[in-house]
Amino acid sequence: MAKTTKAKTKAATSKPAKAKPSTGKNKSAQRGKDRPAKRRAAIAMPLLLEHDTFAVMPGELVTVLDFLRFAVSRFAEAGVVFAHGTTDPIAEAAFLIGEALHLHPDQFEMFATTRVTFAESEVILDLIAGRIVTRLPAAYLVNKIYMRGVPFYVDERVIVPRSYIGELLDSHFDGGETSLIDDPDAVERVLDLCTGSGCLAILASRSFPNATIDAVDLSTDALAVATRNVGDHHLGERITLHHGDLFAPLGEARYDLIITNPPYVDADGMANLPAECRAEPAMAFDGGDDGLDIVRRILAEAKDHLTPEGGLLCEVGRCRPAIEHHFPHLPLLWLDSEDSDGEVFWIAAADL
Ligand SMILES: C[S@@+](CC[C@H](N)C(=O)[O-])C[C@H]1O[C@@H](n2cnc3c(N)ncnc32)[C@H](O)[C@@H]1O
Repeated sequence: MAKTTKAKTKAATSKPAKAKPSTGKNKSAQRGKDRPAKRRAAIAMPLLLEHDTFAVMPGELVTVLDFLRFAVSRFAEAGVVFAHGTTDPIAEAAFLIGEALHLHPDQFEMFATTRVTFAESEVILDLIAGRIVTRLPAAYLVNKIYMRGVPFYVDERVIVPRSYIGELLDSHFDGGETSLIDDPDAVERVLDLCTGSGCLAILASRSFPNATIDAVDLSTDALAVATRNVGDHHLGERITLHHGDLFAPLGEARYDLIITNPPYVDADGMANLPAECRAEPAMAFDGGDDGLDIVRRILAEAKDHLTPEGGLLCEVGRCRPAIEHHFPHLPLLWLDSEDSDGEVFWIAAADL
């Protein structure tokens, strides 16, 4: 089923920015005096902060777009880092404001020029302040993230989903001209190794409608979140979650496809994670000294768990040079996505 691979050459990506110290705590003494009693809209936040962190008087900000502009300015001023599903302050602000207003990201533009109520504005300002003061990823503030337009529950037990594999399943596994497999409907068994929140297993269930999917993680916390997501998406019949170390809980099972976004951050990267990432479980990142501890094991063991026509799709961040150095004999096909160059490879079982 899988097509064999030819290696492609493209440079690895630049380093993420480092977080700067928070500047979001300067409350105005004037603020709050003339405001109506505080009302809270119903939105679950782990930490409710005073929206009057900002010197904004009622009526100063009126439309959704006004709040978007305000958030972008505050994020820029505070040096917030964007590495969790959004890559710029506008997308991040639109996500948080959309969540406060119970709007799917696709609906944001439609309502951009509409007015925000006082109660809604308080929730929005709380979220903007919360993002700056706590440096938590936006997804943890609202317990939600979208991948490919699909919502997933998240909290601090699990890394915030942002894998490029979601996009690549759509662009390279659809049976079309650039597809790496002939027929997505013919895929019967998929393995999502290091599943975290279960996001990739759930997206895979959409790409491969006839497949059953096994998903493994070593973290029981992560699996608790994955269990919730599998339930929310009514996929309990198709996705089985396993607790364990990589392939260990799977016995002799073989798969048409293995997809995996394992921990791959090297020691230097771990020492320099931005504050936002330090709020996430370290075991989701830590790939050992050179980042390849887990990737090495996956490359060594994957063949024993693939059908002869199968293949492995693996995300490795900025480890491409190290992988090419240590595995020069492997014909890895490096795939690009909208926001990444050569951070994910594909290799057919026959080439492993
Ligand atoms: C980078 S996260 C990816 C999570 C999810 N697939 C995603 O893309 O959002 C890596 C995951 O691997 C898990 N993990 C770390 N070591 C593992 C191991 N030896 N076996 C199985 N899972 C492991 C972590 O708990 C974490 O959930």
